[in-house]
Amino acid sequence: MIKKSLLFLGNFSFSKIILAFLSLNLFIFLLYVNGIESNSLNISLKYFLFSNETIVPNSNNSKENLDNSTFPTVSKNSNLSKEYGIYNKTLCPMIPAKLHGRIPVKYFNGTFIELENSLSNLSIEKGGLWSPKECKPRYKVALIIPYRNRENILKIFLKNLHPFLQKQQIEYGIYLIEPLQNLTFNRGLLMNIGFIESLKKTNQKWECFMFHDVDLIPEDERIIYSCPEQPRHLSAFVTKFNTIVSGEALFGGVSALTKDQMKKVNGYSNLYFGWGGEDDDFRYRILQNNFKITRYPLEIGRYLMIRHTSDQKINSERFNLLKKTVERMKTDGLNSIEYKLNDMIIGKLFTKVIVSYDENYLLKKIY
Ligand code: BGC
Repeated sequence: MIKKSLLFLGNFSFSKIILAFLSLNLFIFLLYVNGIESNSLNISLKYFLFSNETIVPNSNNSKENLDNSTFPTVSKNSNLSKEYGIYNKTLCPMIPAKLHGRIPVKYFNGTFIELENSLSNLSIEKGGLWSPKECKPRYKVALIIPYRNRENILKIFLKNLHPFLQKQQIEYGIYLIEPLQNLTFNRGLLMNIGFIESLKKTNQKWECFMFHDVDLIPEDERIIYSCPEQPRHLSAFVTKFNTIVSGEALFGGVSALTKDQMKKVNGYSNLYFGWGGEDDDFRYRILQNNFKITRYPLEIGRYLMIRHTSDQKINSERFNLLKKTVERMKTDGLNSIEYKLNDMIIGKLFTKVIVSYDENYLLKKIY
């Protein structure tokens, strides 16, 4: 019996074993990309395949699947398909063939005109919009970026993100949300405004939202900018001053939610003026609504934080606000927001939404 088994093993050449290993690796990666963390793949197997991983983030999130309901298939005979002429295009692949893995961050220190010229071959439409021509995109994704006084970082962001997103063959739009200079920065409120304003144009029916800091640049092409069935924290591992920052209790940086998920949690709180707390509050809302947060493993979910000096004052009220997140979340958010739209600038590489709000009024109204 033992002899027979040895003979059987002997028939396998080394190259066949390597081939089987690579195929298994690819299979697991495909599952991750689709947001599937199957129970049948045990944790130790994932640990082994994703090499030096010490944490398997959200190994208990076993039910995450691609939300196909967001992308209904249109029958060839329907009016909709005729109107959009989409029946003659095939759906873009779920995982585009050209995604290889780790990518270096490109730095840029020219002018905006030089940047626009350097990206002119990408056919970006006015307002920073783009859609693949060769296939029908599976995902319609709006990037919502709170922004102020970060020109040099913004240029690096655009230099990297436009080609990165196009490689993924998704339809996307880049929205910067900027408060007037005299106002206290409020990241959550700006995210809510970006969500509302980006949905106002009826021809841009965004279904998936990336709430994105401008100083974070993805370092791996396998970070797919789509929305799986559960909210996803994309910037799970951030290289900041040469140290990797991570943690399951974090939800800042870059996170993905569908339009319906965002509505269900009533968006971000509008009350966090200054630095800190709004992302913790958002995370509580998500968990309180019975969603599970998913993350890519260490090998994939990597971002580089571009260095800058902080000009934000720390919000010392954040701990008091956080104590009452659950109590407040139904009345503090998308349904209670008040702001003024001062301007909408349609740039070549982005849309900039300039807004103002009354801090005292908002705090008194809700808090
Ligand atoms: C803050 C968060 C921040 C996190 C990591 C927390 O204390 O409230 O806003 O994302 O620290 O820096």
